[in-house]
Amino acid sequence: TSFRLLPDTDRAIEAAAQTIIELVKGRPDAILGLATGGTMEPLYGHLVTAHHDGLSFARVRTVNLDEYVGLSPDHPNSYHSYMAQHFFDHVDVAEQNIYIPQGEIEPAQAAHKYSALLERLGPVDLQLLGIGANGHIGFNEPGTAVDAPTRVVELLPSTIKANARFFSAGDVVPSHAVTMGTAEILSARSIVALATGAAKARALADALDGTIGPDCPASYLRLHANCTIFADKLAGAELQ
Ligand code: F6R
Repeated sequence: TSFRLLPDTDRAIEAAAQTIIELVKGRPDAILGLATGGTMEPLYGHLVTAHHDGLSFARVRTVNLDEYVGLSPDHPNSYHSYMAQHFFDHVDVAEQNIYIPQGEIEPAQAAHKYSALLERLGPVDLQLLGIGANGHIGFNEPGTAVDAPTRVVELLPSTIKANARFFSAGDVVPSHAVTMGTAEILSARSIVALATGAAKARALADALDGTIGPDCPASYLRLHANCTIFADKLAGAELQ
């Protein structure tokens, strides 16, 4: 695992985006593992700009990390909607090359289908990851084993609270999600993780300086041979 601490948020995001852009330039049919969340909004902005500057995603296949149970693709807070809004609607990714777990079907069935799909696709070339304030990756919350499969998970109250900011007042934040497992995440050929802002400082220090184990699933990234973690100064504030 290599670690790159950038002086500010914009530069951390830009550096992570650049890694993805370089990969797609060299391998136009790459399989990209994609993430959602606040951290990634500006990152997709960079990818869209790269597309406007000539980069094609037409042959790329994308697999998203997760989706909320109970939200249909057209729900404004579904990760389907997020991806359309921030990325897919602005680039030339082909509809049939986009994979996201289905939130609207029976959850165990959605997890089973997604797990079979990931197996069929084979290893992801580059998996993009945010890091939860509690150290989660995907929706693999603290307590998750290193080899957990793609499955239905219950979100911790702190995660539900952290994600409530994206929902309208009165909207119920889903309590469950279908997530790619730590097993599949760690089987990617390369990983780019991005942590920005003070809210991630504790999680990043636990991930990089703490024991490798289920208390901080992001610590498993240190077991990966080709993982780069990008952070800004705020997220790096508690590193040793
Ligand atoms: C998103 C995901 C999550 C987020 C994490 C950080 O698909 O799987 O692990 O990456 O919760 O979210 P933000 O960027 O909103 O702080």
